[in-house]
Amino acid sequence: MKAIEIRKKYLDYFKRHGHAVIPSAPLIPENDPSVLFTTAGMQPLVPYLLGEKHPEGKRLTDYQKCVRTNDIDEVGDNRHLTYFEMLGNWSLGDYFKDESIAMSFEFLTKELGIPVEKLSVTCFAGDEDCPRDEVAANAWKKAGIPEDHIYYYGKDDNWWIAGEEGPCGPDTEMFYDTGKPACGPDCQPSCDCGKYVEIWNNVFMEYFKDEKGYRKLEQKNVDTGLGLERMTMLLQGKETPFDTELFSPVMDKLKDLQKVDAIESRRIIAEHLRSSMMIIADGGRPSNLDRGYVLRRLIRRMIRHMNKLQIDLNSLKELIDIYVENLGEMYPELVKNKEIIEQVIVEEKDKFVKTLAKGEKEFEKAIGKLEGTKIIPGQVVFRLYDTYGFPPEVTKELAEENGYEIDMNEFNELFKKHQEKSRAGSEQKFKGGLAETTEETIKYHTATHLLNAAIKRVIGKDAHQRGSNITVDRMRFDFNCDHKLTDDEKKQIEDLVNEWIKEGLPVTKEEMKKEDAIKSGAECMFIEKYPDIVTVYTIGDVSKELCGGPHVKNTNELGRFKIKKEESSSSGVRRIKAVLIDE
Ligand code: SER
Repeated sequence: MKAIEIRKKYLDYFKRHGHAVIPSAPLIPENDPSVLFTTAGMQPLVPYLLGEKHPEGKRLTDYQKCVRTNDIDEVGDNRHLTYFEMLGNWSLGDYFKDESIAMSFEFLTKELGIPVEKLSVTCFAGDEDCPRDEVAANAWKKAGIPEDHIYYYGKDDNWWIAGEEGPCGPDTEMFYDTGKPACGPDCQPSCDCGKYVEIWNNVFMEYFKDEKGYRKLEQKNVDTGLGLERMTMLLQGKETPFDTELFSPVMDKLKDLQKVDAIESRRIIAEHLRSSMMIIADGGRPSNLDRGYVLRRLIRRMIRHMNKLQIDLNSLKELIDIYVENLGEMYPELVKNKEIIEQVIVEEKDKFVKTLAKGEKEFEKAIGKLEGTKIIPGQVVFRLYDTYGFPPEVTKELAEENGYEIDMNEFNELFKKHQEKSRAGSEQKFKGGLAETTEETIKYHTATHLLNAAIKRVIGKDAHQRGSNITVDRMRFDFNCDHKLTDDEKKQIEDLVNEWIKEGLPVTKEEMKKEDAIKSGAECMFIEKYPDIVTVYTIGDVSKELCGGPHVKNTNELGRFKIKKEESSSSGVRRIKAVLIDE
C-alpha cells in the first residue's frame, strides 16, 4: 500500500466514525514564536485539549506535517527523519479509552490488514501520580490482543507530554513485530533491537502538568499519532523508509549521480532535501537564527554530503523536480511553491559553496597545528561556525572523516556566550527545542501591543491583528488593511509608538473572566482559543489586550521603535516588520 493510500484510508475511517477532517497546520506555527516547528498533531490543538470548543466538534482527524530536529545528527541511519507526517485522531472530551482502542484495533487489523499476531501493545504500569492502566489493557483484550502480547511500562515509556509542562497522560502504544529473531529471552517491545517497531501511540490526556505537579483536566481527551513513513515501510515489507516510494525515486537518482558510494550520505541528502522543501513551502527561509538556522543546517549538511559523493551540485534542481513530481499529489504546496523552493535552495547552496572552500582550508590549517591530540578545540569549531558559517555538525563530520573529534562542550560554552552577547536566542533553540523567552523577545512582545494600538488610531478601528511573530532581533505584525500604507501613515504609526515609549507608560496585568474582558473592550485575536479566565494586559490608557505575556513593566524599557518594512502579506492583509533600537 502506498503512503497516500494509507493516509486516505486513515482519514476515511475516522470520518466514517464521526470525526471531522481538519487540514494540516503549517510546519511553522503561525502565532507561536515559542516553538520552532510543529512537532506533533496535538500541538496546534492544545487550546482545545485544554477545554476550548473546536468549531469542527469533539472528534477530529488530520494528517499533520511535522519537523523534529532533536535527532538531526542521527539522520543517515535506517530510521531517523527530520520531516515526517503524523496521522492523528482526537477526542476532545468525547470518547475515551475503550472506543479509542477498539477503533485503533479495527483500523490496524481490518483496514490495513495487519495480522493480530504481529501486534503487541504496551500500557502504563502505574505510579503515585496515576494508576495502572487496566482499563486500556482490558480494552485490548476485548478487542482481541492476547494477554501475552500486552506489556506494562512506567513513565519513561508509557507517558506522553510535549516538553516539561502541559496536557499529558498515560499512553498505550502499538508495536509491529517485524519477524526478525528476538535478540534474547527478554526481548520485548521496549527493546530497540529492531524486532518490534512502534507504530501508533494513543495518549489518554486527562492530566495537566506544571511546576506544582499533576492535576486532572476538566475533560478527558484522546490524542493519537501514527507515523506515516514508518507504517508505509512496514506494510511494504521494506527495511527503511528510504526504500519506499516517498524517497526511492530520489535515492535511485542519487545512486546514478554519485561517483563515490555511501548509503548514509544518500539518505542524508534525500531526507534533508525533502525536509527543506517542506519547510520552504510553508514559508521558512535560511538565516542564522532559530528556524532559519535549522533550515540552513539542513541545506548545508545536504550539500556537504553531495560533495562527499562527488555529485554535481547543479543536479539539485533535478532532485527537486523528482520530489515535486512524486510528492506533489500528497503535498500540493510543493507544486505551488516549486520556483521559490528551487530559488531558496540554490541561493543557499551558492552561499555555502563560497564559504566551504575557505572553511575547509581553515580546518586543515587548524588540524595541522594540533600537537599530540586528536581533539579539535571548541575555539576552532566556533571560529569555523562564526566566520565561515560551518554548522558544528559539519565540522564534526569533517573531523571524524579525518580521524579527529571535536570538543563540543567548549564549543557550546563559547556559543552560549556569543548568544548571550548578541541575545541571539538560546542554546536550547539551537538544539531545536522550545524557544526561550529572552529580555529582547519580551520587549518586542510589548511593542507589538503598542503597534496594534497605533495602527488602530492611524488606519482605523477595524484594522485588526491577523498574526504576529517575534524573534530576538525583530518583530513582524500582520493586520487587515485594504491599501499599502503611505509614508505619512507609517511615520504617524512610528511616532505614536515612540511617543508612548517616551511617556513611560506602566504595563499592568489582571486576570478576569473572558466575558468581562471582552465587555471591557480588550483586544484579542482568536477569542475561541482562550480559556474562561484570561489575562489582560493594559498599557497606560492606550492598549488593552488579552494575552499570556510576559511583558516589560514600563514602556520606557523598549528603546526606539522603527518600522523597517511594510508589505503585503496576503490579500487584504499588510505586514509590518519593525525593530527596537537600544538608545
Ligand atoms: N502526541 C502523541 C505523539 O506525538 C500522539 O499524537 O506521539
